[in-house]
Amino acid sequence: VFTDGVPLVVEDVPRRPAVDRAAVLADPGFGRHFTDSMFVARYRAGEGWVDARLTAYAPLQLDPSAAALHYAQSIFEGLKAYAQPDGSVATFRPEANAARFARGARRLAMPPVPEQAFLTAVDALVDADRDWVPTGPDQTLYLRPYQLAVEPFLGVRPAHEYLFVVIASPAGAYFPRGVHPVSVYLSEDYIRAAPGGTGDVKCAGNYAASLLAQEQAIAAGCDQVVWLDAVEKKYVEEMGGMNLFFVLGSGDDAELVTPELTGTLLPGITRDSLITVARELGHTVTERKFTVEEWRAGVADGTVTETFACGTAAVITPVGSVTARTGDFVVGNGEPGPLTMRLREHLLDVQHGRVADPHGWLHRV
Ligand code: COI
Repeated sequence: VFTDGVPLVVEDVPRRPAVDRAAVLADPGFGRHFTDSMFVARYRAGEGWVDARLTAYAPLQLDPSAAALHYAQSIFEGLKAYAQPDGSVATFRPEANAARFARGARRLAMPPVPEQAFLTAVDALVDADRDWVPTGPDQTLYLRPYQLAVEPFLGVRPAHEYLFVVIASPAGAYFPRGVHPVSVYLSEDYIRAAPGGTGDVKCAGNYAASLLAQEQAIAAGCDQVVWLDAVEKKYVEEMGGMNLFFVLGSGDDAELVTPELTGTLLPGITRDSLITVARELGHTVTERKFTVEEWRAGVADGTVTETFACGTAAVITPVGSVTARTGDFVVGNGEPGPLTMRLREHLLDVQHGRVADPHGWLHRV
């Protein structure tokens, strides 16, 4: 059952003979290859969610006037399934993605997918495509649930018809260079999110609006853009599509600071997990505003020893250097810091089932 009285139809999906699964799993890259199946459900005003099915991965049929194509009424999630040492497969905190997805839907005036139905859909897809879960070091099956307005109508109002789709993609490292410190560019021309906007939900438009700033970062010789707050252009908010952490001090006494969730930041599930993990490892973690000047001065006087970004796709990525109109600086010695690497290893160990999971974060499929 998908949700109240709506059956989940599981079709017999044939393997695609043209796809060499072993070759894909040996070197999946990120986001380029997709499994044999997908999940699709449809929503119609007055009927609710209907026609939930696990079916063959195939192009969607959309009316050229489908609302999402014009007005971006569209949200997505990202989570991963991990091969476990005992041969089983587990997703990581999927209920957190389900809750954020429903919250995002409400923000975009869309009918939310019931959280249990979200979990059922993700489980059904992972179960059907379990042999697409790669087993190499730090490889995963990346899951991409999304919801979009498909009503053929050009008036500006919440659509009356939606699709909820889940696809899956075997994944290696998100950044081709792996755990290599990235150089970042402070965006002073563009902003990611303003108070009252959509910065705290995973809507497609946020990512479209970020691309030009990311191009500007690359033109400046950097890997990634770092966003400042829209009002004072003083506080560090995010890097690209990832949350940021700053390490103050070193060794067992090192403390972490991460920008507080003011409503303009995405509440990352990796961010939340790392706050918990770091505290368990004995570190103080503070969620507060953090200024560019504190970052710069802290790096100069040795208080800020490490900086890293985190997200589901890339897990943890060290930040090595910062380019800004107000002057460039290097974080630490430009190499991945010890706490950055320790947190990364610990989180990956939990996700891949190599250490205990005291919070029940793994969800066996
Ligand atoms: C993340 O996992 O950090 C993301 O934001 C996903 C990205 C591929 C859009």
